Amino acid sequence: MKNKKIIAPSILSADFSNLSMQIRNVELGGADVIHCDVMDGQFVPNITFGPIIIEAVRKITKLPIDTHLMIKNPDALLKEFIEAGSNYITVHQEEVIHLNRTINRIKELGAKAGVAINPSTPVSTLTEVLDIVDLVLVMSVNPGFGAQKFIPGTLKKIETLAAIREEKGYNYIIEIDGGINSENIKTVSKAGCNMFVVGWSIFGADNITASTMELKNLITNSN
Ligand code: DX5
Ligand code: ZN
Repeated sequence: MKNKKIIAPSILSADFSNLSMQIRNVELGGADVIHCDVMDGQFVPNITFGPIIIEAVRKITKLPIDTHLMIKNPDALLKEFIEAGSNYITVHQEEVIHLNRTINRIKELGAKAGVAINPSTPVSTLTEVLDIVDLVLVMSVNPGFGAQKFIPGTLKKIETLAAIREEKGYNYIIEIDGGINSENIKTVSKAGCNMFVVGWSIFGADNITASTMELKNLITNSN
């Protein structure tokens, strides 16, 4: 998985009145994973959806579901989100006090465990969990909204995570989330990233399938 380049459309910018067709269109474009952004209006200033929508997405697609929990106290809802069909569960380092316990709990419940860091949170906050985590999500915008501008300083974090992974022989996936488009995806890929969340640049495009395909081609041919 760590050597594979994975495109993960975020349904945050999808047309929810036509979700099934929108997901079909990204599948046709070669999407590898469906990214679901859960927001509670407290950890971030916006509200999206809960396990009910994950359950609906599970019925629409066979692709893995990557659930990004931008919520207060995610520990209380891990079971619900995993039973709804999430394959990956990512919690925020800034919110979880007992990160080691939470990661192990996600794994015990049968999902892959991810940890996200906001743009202002350094990679060093994850040092003690990099050996057990399945995925590290680097936020390249401040979470809460789609269609924001990529923060270039976050590239350094991808390089650091890739270097540590190489040096220690770890297996975690490095995921980027926020402001990814056809202009910057190749640079991020070259920095060592292998999972790319894309919301607006896919669902905001005139042709969802073509934009998914274009982004996927750019990462597949980036090295
Ligand atoms: C931001 C979310 C992202 C978002 C990315 O809070 O975590 O997943 O949907 O969207 P774009 O690609 O539009 O920045
Ligand atoms: Zn996300």
